[in-house]
Amino acid sequence: MMRKQTLIDTARTLVADDKGLLAMDESNPTCNKRFAQLDIPQTEEARRTWRELIITTPNLSDSISGAILYDETVRQHHKDGTPFVKILIDAGIIPGIKVDTGAKAMAGHPREKITEGLDGLRERLAEYAQMGIRFAKWRAVIAMDAGIPSRACIEANAQALARYAALCQEAGLVPVVEPEVLMNGAHTLAQCSKVTEEVLRTVFDQLYIQGVMLEGMILKPNMVAPGITCSQQATMDEVADATVNCLLRAVPAAVPGIAFLSGGQAAEVATARLNAMNARFKSQLPWALAFSFARAIQQPALDMWIGKPDHVMAAQHVLYHRAKCNQAARRSQYDVKMEEDAQA
Ligand code: 13P
Repeated sequence: MMRKQTLIDTARTLVADDKGLLAMDESNPTCNKRFAQLDIPQTEEARRTWRELIITTPNLSDSISGAILYDETVRQHHKDGTPFVKILIDAGIIPGIKVDTGAKAMAGHPREKITEGLDGLRERLAEYAQMGIRFAKWRAVIAMDAGIPSRACIEANAQALARYAALCQEAGLVPVVEPEVLMNGAHTLAQCSKVTEEVLRTVFDQLYIQGVMLEGMILKPNMVAPGITCSQQATMDEVADATVNCLLRAVPAAVPGIAFLSGGQAAEVATARLNAMNARFKSQLPWALAFSFARAIQQPALDMWIGKPDHVMAAQHVLYHRAKCNQAARRSQYDVKMEEDAQA
């Protein structure tokens, strides 16, 4: 009973006060890929320095409730010796952890992926809980193209998400359940909506079958949008309407919060779309519509830092600004003017 209430309290806190999550859980290969694009050295020390920059951003907790770390990061320290996890907790930011071990080629389904990481997960979660981590994330990847996604891919990924979520709750960690329908491809808004709805319905079926307490979890979905190469792009309002309508059909009201991934959208676009959803629907929704962005919060700051010690403060300023803009979007108070003011 105690544990149940703790899960509920943590999940609610993660979406309280119009704050959101900062995803900084890139695996080493993904982090290195982002560094390589900017000629930043792809070393453990460079990754540590970047993550130190993020978590020491002054007043980050004004708009960030929780940060999702990676296994390497969760064991790292500030150069003054303070563990990163302690820095976050002292700043009032709840530490979380990515626990899947990546999306791997799916047997018999050449263009599709299945996320791995269930083996030994109970023991890993126990260790993270001991370290003060209070929530976890697992990402399933669903690609769209002619003939896919298959039911095999959707069901296998949904079941893995549900088994992960059940193990998290057993360990006292709030599961952030992330089924990502990718933006790559020429699919239309309507096609994305149809697939996202099918994926979400299957995920919530499986969460029910596995006995996951919906009040003690967060959903991290994609926004419903046309594929990147679709010839017919959509307006802010079209994306907002399609996304909210899809979620209303498929996400139970017991879920306290929905925190979107950014999925490669430009930072300002992700913010504007979140703003449009809250502006048009907030008063009618059973759950909070929040954010759990990685690229849409980090990338502009990374572009500013580019590995240079004398750019640290400017990069932190950019990071703080993006987090603030996303908080404003939760309040339907985001305006592109905020971007110009920040430049000035
Ligand atoms: P993006 O916001 O860059 O999509 O990352 C979110 C995330 O955590 C991916 O798993």
